Amino acid sequence: MPAVSSSVSGHGQTICVTGAGGFIASWMVKLLLERGYTVRGTLRNPDDPKNAHLRELEGAAERLTLCRADLLDYESLKEAINGCDGVFHTASPVTDDPEQMVEPAVNGTKNVIQAAAEAKVRRVVFTSSIGAVYMDPTRGPDVVVDESCWSDLEFCKNTKNWYCYGKAVAEQAAWAEAKEKGVDLVVVNPVLVLGPLLQPTVNASIIHILKYLTGSTQTYANSVQAYVHVKDVALAHILVYETPSASGRYLCAESVLHRGDVVEILAKFFPEYPIPNKCKDNGKPRAEPYKFTNQKLRDLGLEFTPVKHTLYETVKSLQDKGHLPVPTKQEQDSIKIQS
Ligand SMILES: NC(=O)c1ccc[n+]([C@@H]2O[C@H](COP(=O)([O-])OP(=O)(O)OC[C@H]3O[C@@H](n4cnc5c(N)ncnc54)[C@H](OP(=O)(O)O)[C@@H]3O)[C@@H](O)[C@H]2O)c1
Repeated sequence: MPAVSSSVSGHGQTICVTGAGGFIASWMVKLLLERGYTVRGTLRNPDDPKNAHLRELEGAAERLTLCRADLLDYESLKEAINGCDGVFHTASPVTDDPEQMVEPAVNGTKNVIQAAAEAKVRRVVFTSSIGAVYMDPTRGPDVVVDESCWSDLEFCKNTKNWYCYGKAVAEQAAWAEAKEKGVDLVVVNPVLVLGPLLQPTVNASIIHILKYLTGSTQTYANSVQAYVHVKDVALAHILVYETPSASGRYLCAESVLHRGDVVEILAKFFPEYPIPNKCKDNGKPRAEPYKFTNQKLRDLGLEFTPVKHTLYETVKSLQDKGHLPVPTKQEQDSIKIQS
């Protein structure tokens, strides 16, 4: 677990978290409240039962306010951000549909930075993505992916990776807008985020794992993916907010695994589920993990949760929230005997 202490560093400060009910943002709200911050969370619909978990968080009754805001409604953002010391801009569509993705991601980000400039906040922390970093077909296998890398927009478009395209353009817009308006901006670029869910619904990155446990897929892809624990992502945002010297981008990644490694880990921990054991591309050379560095965040004191632990906690949480059937004691004993 990360070695950052849970001291009350936030006492007296108010942070606005956009899209507060989402997977990552819910963890930000939780950790900020634990550290003594007052939190203003924006939601498109504060009355939706899917956001009810926020009101149950420790400290929420005293220090959490939920405001209705849409990324494309500037006035609603202005109202939410006005009077805050900082902003964690995390709300974004997470989809490969270009119509739904690009405009809210890009114009929403510009609106948030503009509202933050008007409110004269101390710092904005923007949740970008590895999607804005690593989509570059010309990168050699020995290149270490770091904060200087940018995705190739033409490549994203040609391969219809509209999520990566939207996040890359949104991050570029954030940097341009912050420079023009004199806003102190720091960016966190997480890789695929897993770990326990606080919200009742399943988000896109969790489906990446859920699909291997439900029998809905018989094979795994011959590809690699980098992973990080959701609590580490939330802590990374707090660390870069709280460290005055923090600047630029921060790659937030623990390790890169081939899908074959992921299903092997899952099958060892949870043999009761129909986890695929065949690669889709059987016979072709196995995709190699890319190299990356997470040194910038480690230098700020972040100790990343090992991916095996993250995968274990993800599945346990899916069981606890009722998204996966939990085998009976009898079924578990019979699996042990068979193996
Ligand atoms: N999960 C990952 O693997 C991962 C990796 C890298 C970066 N990220 C980034 O992290 C952020 C959060 O992702 P997540 O995984 O936590 O996703 P999530 O659970 O789907 O949360 C996204 C949030 O954005 C809100 N949102 C979407 N469109 C909006 C709009 N037009 N106006 C206001 N709010 C809007 C959603 O609100 P509603 O509930 O109203 O739809 C939701 O609360 C995103 O910026 C994403 O790009 C995620």
